[in-house]
Amino acid sequence: MSGASSAQAFYGRWAALYDAVARHTPGVARLRERAASALRLSAGDTVVEMGCGTGANLPYLREQVGPDGTVVGVDFTGPILDRARDLVERRGWENVHVVRGDATRPPITDSVDGILSTFVVGMLAEPAGTVDDWCDLLNAGGHLVLVDAAESDRWYAAPINAAFRAVTVLSTPPTLRVRYENSPHESLVRRVTDARDALRARSAAVAHEDHWAGIVRLTGGRID
Ligand SMILES: C[S@@+](CC[C@H](N)C(=O)[O-])C[C@H]1O[C@@H](n2cnc3c(N)ncnc32)[C@H](O)[C@@H]1O
Repeated sequence: MSGASSAQAFYGRWAALYDAVARHTPGVARLRERAASALRLSAGDTVVEMGCGTGANLPYLREQVGPDGTVVGVDFTGPILDRARDLVERRGWENVHVVRGDATRPPITDSVDGILSTFVVGMLAEPAGTVDDWCDLLNAGGHLVLVDAAESDRWYAAPINAAFRAVTVLSTPPTLRVRYENSPHESLVRRVTDARDALRARSAAVAHEDHWAGIVRLTGGRID
């Protein structure tokens, strides 16, 4: 099974649990609000979320662009996207659209004002190339914001990192292999770093914040 299909099988199977974690983990709502505001959107703008999952960021993105803006969520896992679609229908949002598609070949034809991706680039085979492609989709002055979790480099982080490594193994498809060819957390750190290096290389201005004792990093770049 390829990385992409095992990710779809994994997230499809655990959609309900993931939805609860994505919405109710303490502090996560504030992080999502912060990520949406780091996009520096204006009313009427168009924003795309790559790998939107069950739609936990969609309310914050819609708040930024208002009723006259447009929000598009892209994800390749059907059952995950069904939850995002239910949310949009329940809230009656006519300007929020969820689309099944591959974020590495996004089904976006016109340029947009902002792109958000939270907890996704660590799953991509070629994160640097994909981030570069996302930058190409932005209007001049548009922003790309990446939020990811990886090991912390804080001096007190050893126990936090041990817990994080366990969560990474449990949440890395196909889950609990006896042996991995590459350690899941090492490849996660490499992908998250490669994605940020690519964003920095393309950005006229960059902002970076660490959250949750350095486990979560939020990086935004303005593309001119
Ligand atoms: C850890 S979840 C994050 C979901 C959401 N961004 C959030 O913050 O709750 C990763 C999501 O990325 C999606 N995903 C991973 N690779 C993708 C790709 N190449 N194209 C589209 N979706 C992808 C998965 O289906 C899953 O829904």
